[in-house]
Amino acid sequence: MAAGKGTRMKSALPKVLHKLGGRSLLQHVLQTAAGLGAVGIVVITGHGAEAVEAAVSAPKLRFVRQMPQLGTGHAVQQEVPALHAEGITLILNGDVPLIEAATMRALVAACAGERLALLTVDLQNPFGYGRILRDGDVVKAIVEEKDASPAQRLIKEGYTGMMAVPTAHLKRWLAALRNDNAQKEYYLTDIVAAAAAEGVPVVASKAQSETEVLGVNSPLELARLERRFQLRQAEVLMEAGVRLADPARFDLRGELVCGSDVEIDVNCVFEGRVELADGVRIGPNCVIRNAVIGAGTELQAYTHINGEALGVTIGAKAQIGPFSRLRPGAELGDEVHIGNFVEVKNSTMAKGAKANHLAYLGDATVGERVNFGAGSITANYDGANKSRTVIEADVHVGSNCVLVAPITIGAGATIGGGSTISKDAPAGQLTVARARQMSLAGWTRPTKKK
Ligand code: UD1
Ligand code: MG
Repeated sequence: MAAGKGTRMKSALPKVLHKLGGRSLLQHVLQTAAGLGAVGIVVITGHGAEAVEAAVSAPKLRFVRQMPQLGTGHAVQQEVPALHAEGITLILNGDVPLIEAATMRALVAACAGERLALLTVDLQNPFGYGRILRDGDVVKAIVEEKDASPAQRLIKEGYTGMMAVPTAHLKRWLAALRNDNAQKEYYLTDIVAAAAAEGVPVVASKAQSETEVLGVNSPLELARLERRFQLRQAEVLMEAGVRLADPARFDLRGELVCGSDVEIDVNCVFEGRVELADGVRIGPNCVIRNAVIGAGTELQAYTHINGEALGVTIGAKAQIGPFSRLRPGAELGDEVHIGNFVEVKNSTMAKGAKANHLAYLGDATVGERVNFGAGSITANYDGANKSRTVIEADVHVGSNCVLVAPITIGAGATIGGGSTISKDAPAGQLTVARARQMSLAGWTRPTKKK
């Protein structure tokens, strides 16, 4: 179910598309459900339907629209034509992102095609939840907060919004729903009383953890759930030996694969897929997206790596940062050094190459042991097209040079500081391209006219 408005988010974005750990709430649920081997997955959309349908994906996924939204029972009624007559329907909430596959499987097993299986949770503060009405062990009904008597509101066992139902029964019970309640809605939860009345067994199993059944209704709830999610990811990494300076100041919005003896300082954000080989050390306040980093490499503070689609790769024992920026297609070899305020984009740097201060390398091929001086750049863009710069092995580019691409600097060449180089520079020679220095003897400064 993903048709609701999510009023309390106070956002133009449909609630189920808000992100937790870098993925939309709904995508979390779909990814978990995809592992169940269901014959199909149906998402009920309504509010912001087009945006929701465009944003999520899963195998065997279909959408049905609920317009207008007249309650959870009405929502499930919309998918009745899409359901197989036989089998089990598992109903999940698009705004409860951390529900686990084992819990879904347990619900389906409890249903077994002949019982109505509810997932419930004991809550300190069950306000807003449908309450489970029991007669001993037997579940009789669910009563919504707004319809509950004061005595019923004291019940701590709440309905999580998830159930598994024999589909043939579900179709019959949905057809009989009425909206004569406090909210004038068709409540899915009314099918519990229908089952009890028919003598179909209703079983309620309790969720393992509260985290997996928490829904998101407001920015505050989203942020709280994000923290729980991040803490859980941090714990998994730390159990595998990763040394996080502080698990409370760690954010993984994707997948992080770590070798042994990896150290990560505070306030780092990992996005997409990131691989850190053995002994990698990441300083504080780094942002790393889609990158592969080799063994023993160190990233110092405030390094920003964005591999996007092309990725960024760094070899072993490299030194990056502080304040370095690596963009898509940066491929750095072993022992490369990239220092502060250096940007590298779509360029390869061979083993031992260095750009330590204030430099730009774009669309460049840089040979082994090249030293690229402070303030030097490749001018790769003529306003219309991008061209490559080739800097062969052992070149020394002085400070404040502009290498106007396309251009090749031959092996072992030296480029004098302050040069603007627009023609190929031969190997092994010093090339200087700047005004010759001169001094005027006897020159005096102008003085002010009286
Ligand atoms: C629902 C349950 C309540 C349970 C709670 C758990 C009902 C009647 N009540 O209440 O027992 O404790 O969830 O969070 O089911 N939705 C639609 N179409 C609609 C209305 C809702 O698709 O017309 C979707 C929402 O997008 C959401 C889910 O159904 O994903 C739950 O809707 P919500 O309005 O949050 O239901 P609650 O009132 O919280
Ligand atoms: Mg809700």
